Amino acid sequence: MCGIVGYIGDKQAYPILINGLKRLEYRGYDSAGVALRTNRTQVFKCKGKVQDLENHAKGSDVSGSIGIGHTRWATHGEPNDQNAHPHSSMNNKFVIIHNGIIENYSSLKEKLIKRGYTFQSDTDTEVLANLIEYIYLKGEVSAELAVRLALTKVVGAYGLVVICDDEPDKLIAARKGSPLVVGVGNGEYFLASDATPIIEYTNSVIYLNDNDVAIISRDELVLKTIQNDKLTPHIQQLDLDIEQIEKGGYDHFMLKEIFEQTSSIHDTIRGRISTTNKEVFLGGINDVIPQLVNARRILIIGCGTSWHAGMVGEYLFEEFARIPVEVEYASEFRYRNPVIFKDDIVLAISQSGETADTLAAIKLAKEAGATVLGICNVVGSSIPRETHAGVYTHAGPEIGVASTKAFTAQVTVLTMMAMLVGYRKGTLSKEVYQELIAEFANLPEKIKRILDKEEDIKELSKKYMDSTNALYLGRGFLFPVALEGALKLKEISYIHAEGYPAAEMKHGPIALIDEQMPVFVVATKDKSYEKIVSNIQEVKARKGHVIAIVTEGDTVISEMADHVVEIPETLEPLAPLLTVIPFQLISYYIAVYRGCNVDQPRNLAKSVTVE
Ligand code: AGP
Ligand code: GLU
Repeated sequence: MCGIVGYIGDKQAYPILINGLKRLEYRGYDSAGVALRTNRTQVFKCKGKVQDLENHAKGSDVSGSIGIGHTRWATHGEPNDQNAHPHSSMNNKFVIIHNGIIENYSSLKEKLIKRGYTFQSDTDTEVLANLIEYIYLKGEVSAELAVRLALTKVVGAYGLVVICDDEPDKLIAARKGSPLVVGVGNGEYFLASDATPIIEYTNSVIYLNDNDVAIISRDELVLKTIQNDKLTPHIQQLDLDIEQIEKGGYDHFMLKEIFEQTSSIHDTIRGRISTTNKEVFLGGINDVIPQLVNARRILIIGCGTSWHAGMVGEYLFEEFARIPVEVEYASEFRYRNPVIFKDDIVLAISQSGETADTLAAIKLAKEAGATVLGICNVVGSSIPRETHAGVYTHAGPEIGVASTKAFTAQVTVLTMMAMLVGYRKGTLSKEVYQELIAEFANLPEKIKRILDKEEDIKELSKKYMDSTNALYLGRGFLFPVALEGALKLKEISYIHAEGYPAAEMKHGPIALIDEQMPVFVVATKDKSYEKIVSNIQEVKARKGHVIAIVTEGDTVISEMADHVVEIPETLEPLAPLLTVIPFQLISYYIAVYRGCNVDQPRNLAKSVTVE
């Protein structure tokens, strides 16, 4: 959510900051701004896109080799020019950019008003700028100390960077709950909320931890805690290259990422499934397998698409390992006084590894003594660092706000985990275990066969571009796919859509069906095939339009449905990995036909780092 960039070195900062902000656009934002340091600090900011910011700054002096930049996703105060970051303190001693929320901003603001402070914006961030300045001026302390002292008074989450007018050759950065990465160059440093703006300059990075403060000058980085304890910076090498974060000839990142699924699924299983030894091996959780085998219960937590993957996980763990599973929205779980047992396994799923609610739920589970495992895509992000053990999905960077390849990667990891635990436990027979292993090797090619139908799917999507509502139905393993299909359509095309277990339709949603209503049904050949055929009849009897995802060669449903998309046959537990792909493409093309901004849908952020 929202983005931070910073630069200090001997190059011109402005192009680096603008380029970085563009790289961060995918995270979702409503306004943008930069502050540049020459012999004074200049701020350019406005509501809108980074392009608007560039237009706004056109013709101005944008020199300076130190600067900070921000894309804002408004939490406090509407998106407008005034509320955009950077924010200056009242006496212009400090400029600040901030991601996150200062929860106690109103009591701090009241105190500052009593001491004569006035405010230009409605943001919580400006309160922090003034608090730092107040401490700085009143205590006659260094800028760094003022920042650290101010942060001890703050409740909430932040990733922030500050420039002080009196100590202009330095950036002060701090993090608590909102990610920050420092790129280490030669005589220069970069700062960003994730590695995407940094990767084209350097592979050496330092991930800041909660409570870290970095004081960065051109030739030195000093790392300490807010309490002034010195820390040794841990420089890591990024395993990421620039092509991975560019569109590579596709119109949108989302389309690129849908098409990457032939290879991303391969990357997820690489080194973990051995078709020669017919084994699954997950190094990241190897030590906790005995605990998983003996688990009385697994709690799966996540949000959005990751929660849908978790739903598939529930079916998989129950089927293969006979372990009861509860799937929880992280946001509900954390606020609900949930019952967590010491011997519970809590499995947190997150593409970004930064979702605030999921992180908070993990902390709660750890406090209760549970073993917490993670399934994450972004290496080095907060969730993998908070969990006891875990498995990376290795799907590569996902830039499109609508999650696609991360979902199939999450489901792949969940399938491997459930297979491994079930097999070790003896609840999954060797025969089925090995059949699944063998079928995994066929998935990339089967996914390719689905993607080859792109033109047909595109044509079909055109027919439904003007729909105002849609229903998605599925049963068993494929019910979460219906939920995911509906979410994809909602978030990028703004068409209202609902996912339901097909049999639930009779208990309410069937009343919605008329000749205007497209009903997308996952109806591949499995043990509930006959039942889903009946559900399709029920929709047709009420004149709904049925678009069915069916198994290749299905003649029964082709007769009944208005459109079918055939997918290759696979084993039932693996069907979510294939059936979701036509839904991803359908929502993509409907959104494109409707002229929607596919990669950056309105109001949405890629990683939701606020509650
Ligand atoms: C997916 O298309 C969504 N944009 C969203 O629901 C997302 O899955 C959710 O915010 C969770 O994010 P995470 O996986 O990074 O934790
Ligand atoms: N809470 C701050 C604001 O509303 C920061 C939001 C963000 O993370 O972009 O301005």
